[in-house]
Amino acid sequence: MEKKSWKESYSELQRIVLPGDTNVFDSLYGGRLVEWIDNVASIVAMKHSRKRTVTGSIDNLFFLSPIRMGYIVYMKGRINFTTRTTMEIEVDVESEEGITGTRRFTTKAYLTYVAIDADGRPIECPELLLETDDDKRRFEEASVRSINRKALLNKIRDKVKSEQGSD
Ligand SMILES: CC(C)(COP(=O)(O)OP(=O)(O)OC[C@H]1O[C@@H](n2cnc3c(N)ncnc32)[C@H](O)[C@@H]1OP(=O)(O)O)[C@@H](O)C(=O)NCCC(=O)NCCS
Repeated sequence: MEKKSWKESYSELQRIVLPGDTNVFDSLYGGRLVEWIDNVASIVAMKHSRKRTVTGSIDNLFFLSPIRMGYIVYMKGRINFTTRTTMEIEVDVESEEGITGTRRFTTKAYLTYVAIDADGRPIECPELLLETDDDKRRFEEASVRSINRKALLNKIRDKVKSEQGSD
């Protein structure tokens, strides 16, 4: 399968925080931000693979600064890494105070998508073309995260199996 550059799937999403997006303190509800992050990342995964994809996992998310009602939210999604059937997408989130233009970094998310066939079974996705030192650095760092993620996934699967077995 032909290798593809991250540039072919890079995607951005912008939103303004409306009253329906906020918590009781007039800040962006965390679940809404996760939805937007998943949205932009799934666009990247679909453009890279040109296949059906599902979200497999979202790594830890730390929200570093509150995003108030009326702020503009910028989300930038980029693919870092692939395995045979999975893609790691990194999403950077910044907020901007609309009147002053002050920007703040809010969070960085790593999501893993799995390419699937019509029956929901994992299938191959294109490899990533590594053209620059930055591409290679991102790939190497992501491969470490992938190993840790798989170890955690297997641990959770084993735990679920043993709990279901003990019913
Ligand atoms: C993700 C899913 C397709 C994996 O199917 P599966 O038959 O269990 O897949 P496998 O165990 O053969 O794993 C295939 C690959 O996906 C990876 N993978 C599987 N489940 C994963 C998960 N939850 N998170 C991250 N990676 C995952 C495996 O490590 C493997 O990677 P590899 O290609 O590097 O070897 C399946 O578990 C699923 O459909 N989950 C629900 C997805 C969903 O509905 N998401 C929406 C949010 S609820």
